[in-house]
Parts: sequence; structure tokens; C-alpha cells
Amino acid sequence: MDDVVVVTGASGYIGSHIVSNLLSKGRNVRATVRDLNDPSRIKHLCTLPIQGDGTLEIVEMDLFDVNSVNSAINGANDVIHTAAAVIIKSKNPQGDIVDPSIIGTKNILNAIDKSGTVKNLIHTSSTAAIRPASWEDGVILTTETFAHDATLSKNPYGLAKYSAEMLVRNWHNNLEPAVRPRMLTIHPCMVFGPPLSSRHLNGSLAILMMLVKRNLPVLIPMQISIVDVRDVAEIHVRALDMGESGGRYLTVGGEMMLGDIANLLKFNYPSRKWPTRVIPYWVALIIAAFHPKVSISWAKTHLKNKLYWDAKPASEDFKIQWRDLDETIIETIPNIIENSWD
Ligand SMILES: NC(=O)c1ccc[n+]([C@@H]2O[C@H](COP(=O)([O-])OP(=O)(O)OC[C@H]3O[C@@H](n4cnc5c(N)ncnc54)[C@H](OP(=O)(O)O)[C@@H]3O)[C@@H](O)[C@H]2O)c1
Repeated sequence: MDDVVVVTGASGYIGSHIVSNLLSKGRNVRATVRDLNDPSRIKHLCTLPIQGDGTLEIVEMDLFDVNSVNSAINGANDVIHTAAAVIIKSKNPQGDIVDPSIIGTKNILNAIDKSGTVKNLIHTSSTAAIRPASWEDGVILTTETFAHDATLSKNPYGLAKYSAEMLVRNWHNNLEPAVRPRMLTIHPCMVFGPPLSSRHLNGSLAILMMLVKRNLPVLIPMQISIVDVRDVAEIHVRALDMGESGGRYLTVGGEMMLGDIANLLKFNYPSRKWPTRVIPYWVALIIAAFHPKVSISWAKTHLKNKLYWDAKPASEDFKIQWRDLDETIIETIPNIIENSWD
């Protein structure tokens, strides 16, 4: 088949939306999942609408299994590499968080070299590969910054995303410019928007699920940078023929306070109960002191200070207008309620 675009991590939240976007444009998609026999990983892909002559082939691939990676990439024109372990904490951060990104990305790059057919590699990175350990209140971070100080003990996810991006960049820099594939890295912040499967509620949507399930009696005064999953998918697809090769693109739609998100949901879904009371900063610090999963230093950095991102290069180069954040948040909920995922 001609002109195949491989999407790794296709069962995932962002990967599924990329597959959906590509099929809506009539592309030939090879979607990789870890287990073809698990309906929860493929059911939502099989029901996606396909336009024109588009096709969907779902193949089994594990990032640690070199043969499966090689055969997934073999003969492809385009590769969109979203697969990674999206976990912030683990008792085994090296094996569970960092290795899938580093070993997995190495295997993808080797498979691209072996295939010799790939013209575009779009690598899903993150703001986590950009944000350094400390930053000043009110700073606007750009793609000039790197999370080079992320460590296994303090920020394994940042380390995984930063290291994988560096692997991709070094690989690309060492290839002959005249013949190498185009390569772009995409750096989303916190991604919200409609989940296509209940599997999609465990990553970034876990924050909204805490509101949906009312797991939090009160809210912390936290600002969240948000981008719509449909915009993230669109940028990955546009990056196949737009944007600068070697480019590093932040995708951020804007910022909202957690309390404002809860109030927006309360207004739009009034028949449900939502936690909306925001505790003061100093109370949040006391809670952080006793909380098993949050440290005081995290609370001091992230609750008192506000961080912004410069996503203008992406909106200009990909000619995209970020979806309104209210729309993103409101439209996240129907699939959750209608499928009883709450
Ligand atoms: N969501 C966000 O807010 C956000 C923000 C910035 C960047 N990102 C990045 O976006 C990408 C996708 O994230 P997501 O939110 O869509 O997370 P997700 O829903 O957890 O998707 C991750 C995908 O990676 C696959 N995967 C994990 N380990 C694998 C392995 N060893 N071999 C093959 N596939 C493997 C998962 O497969 P299974 O379904 O089998 O687990 C899943 O399909 C990641 O690179 C993440 O770092 C996400």
C-alpha cells in the first residue's frame, strides 16, 4: 500500500484522535497497539469514520520488541510516534517511565533507518521536556528552554520526555541533510477534550475525572495550561507537510484555574454535583506537608507561581487557532456521561 502513515500508541488518547483525524482526511493509517486481542485497545478505532480511499490497518507493536517495531514501520512514508508511558510516579521509574521512552524511541529510530522509506517523523514530546525544575512567577517559557535538570527521583516523566526528544534530535542532526526525513517535535501541555475510550480517562483527564467523580472535597488554587486533544491531533497531522523540519512546537491553548474549570462545569452540567470550593494557598501548603503524593516544594512552585507558554510559532506555522478552552472542557464531559464512564 502506498503512502502509509504509522501512528504508534494508537489505542491512547492522543493517538486515537490522530488516527481519527487522518482517516477523516482519507489517509492510509497503520495504527499500532500493544494487544490486538484486547477489545478496549481497538474497539474505538474500528468504529472511526473513514473518508474517501482511506484505510485502517491495526497492528501489534510493543516498543520493547524490536521485531514488532521494525515490521510496524516497514515501508511507511510517515511516522507519528506518540507511544510512551504517561505516568508521573512509579516505584520503578526507570523501568516503568523512562525506558519505554528511551529504549522505545531508539527502536523506532532504528526501524526508520532500516526501512529507508520514511519521509516524515513527528515525535510527540511535551511541555515536560521544556520546563526546568524551577522557574520564576509569571515567566513565559519558549522552545529555547530544555528540561535538562529533570532527574529520575524528582521528575522521571520529564526525564523520559526530555531524553527521548534529545535522542530524536541527535539522530536527525547526524543524518545527511539532503536525504534525511523531515522531523518535528510537538510539545503539548495538559491535554483535555473528548475521550474516545474509557482508557483515556487515566492520563491527563484524571484531573477532570476527580471533579466528575467528586474525589476532591475541595480544590487547590492551581493554574493549568490546557490544549484541546483535537487541536493536538490536527497539528500532528499538519506537521506531515507544514512547519519547519527540526522545529520544536509548543501546543498550548491557554490557562485556567482549577476552580474556574469546576465552576464552568457546574454551570453547564447543573444537574450534577461539582466540588467548587477553593482552599487558600496557605491551607494547600499545610495539606501538602502531610500528603503522601505532593511535596511542599511542588506546592510552593506550582500553586503560588504562574507559568505561561509561547505557542505562537505553532499557531503561525500550522495556521491553527486554538480551540476555546471553555468549549474543550464542556465537550470533554458528554462521552463520559453517555458511556457511564463516571
Ligand atoms: N495527555 C497529555 O496531557 C500529554 C501532554 C503532553 C504530552 N503527551 C504525550 O503524548 C503521548 C500520548 O499520550 P496520551 O495522553 O495519549 O497517553 P495514553 O492515552 O496513555 O497513550 C499512550 C500510548 O502509548 C502506548 N504505549 C505505552 N507503552 C508502550 C509500549 N511499551 N509499547 C507500545 N506502546 C506503548 C499505550 O498503549 P496501551 O494502550 O497498550 O497502554 C498508549 O496507546 C505521550 O508521548 C505523552 O508523553 C501527553
